[in-house]
Amino acid sequence: MLGRIYDATWGRAFSAFYDRAFEATEEAGLREMRCELLKGARGRVLELGAGTGLNLELYPHEGLDCLTLTEPDPHMFKQLRARAEKECPGADLIQAGAENLPFDDNTYDTVVVTLVLCTVPDQAAALREISRVLRPDGQLLFLEHVRATDDPSLAKWQDRLETPWRFLGDGCHCNRDTLAGLKGAGFEIGELECAELPKAPPIVRPLVTGRAGIS
Ligand SMILES: C[S@@+](CC[C@H](N)C(=O)[O-])C[C@H]1O[C@@H](n2cnc3c(N)ncnc32)[C@H](O)[C@@H]1O
Repeated sequence: MLGRIYDATWGRAFSAFYDRAFEATEEAGLREMRCELLKGARGRVLELGAGTGLNLELYPHEGLDCLTLTEPDPHMFKQLRARAEKECPGADLIQAGAENLPFDDNTYDTVVVTLVLCTVPDQAAALREISRVLRPDGQLLFLEHVRATDDPSLAKWQDRLETPWRFLGDGCHCNRDTLAGLKGAGFEIGELECAELPKAPPIVRPLVTGRAGIS
């Protein structure tokens, strides 16, 4: 009951203000990081938790056989559909969560997640699904804010503020050690860059971006 009220009020507002809330961060460097990451997309591409579709215009024009986007949140999905109709009418859109993907095993060459593994309620299940739908030589392209590993004081603040931030951030966990999650799920990190989410509160600043394969 409370969950439904939260979703109908804050969830709706979060998606309505998402693009505006991220504007300064996008302009200060996030868009460029997205662009760099997506240059590596190839073949059959699946993006999970696509949100309002901020990555859509950044996919390369060459080398993609098809693009499928999933997003479970109905408010985000509505915006995603509107943007895809304008910017990428050929994309397939599916309303689904990453923990239970409606795709066959070994379907995709590339899976993309940007700022999603912090939010999926069950990260381990989502990573199992990614590994299932990826082809054996497929790649996971990721851009995720993570738990601070080289600043114990910041990590402590991430733990302390996890609950209020999760409420404000529509389910976002600011203290997830996503690289450990990837390794634990059997991914091998091929390329990795550690950076910061520009113009973001310190607890969500540590960022990792890169490419992983199934080991
Ligand atoms: C911070 S937003 C990021 C949106 C988009 N990927 C981007 O880069 O702007 C987190 C997204 O994860 C989505 N999400 C929440 N639960 C999810 C789940 N179980 N599976 C996939 N995506 C989920 C949210 O609806 C939201 O769109």
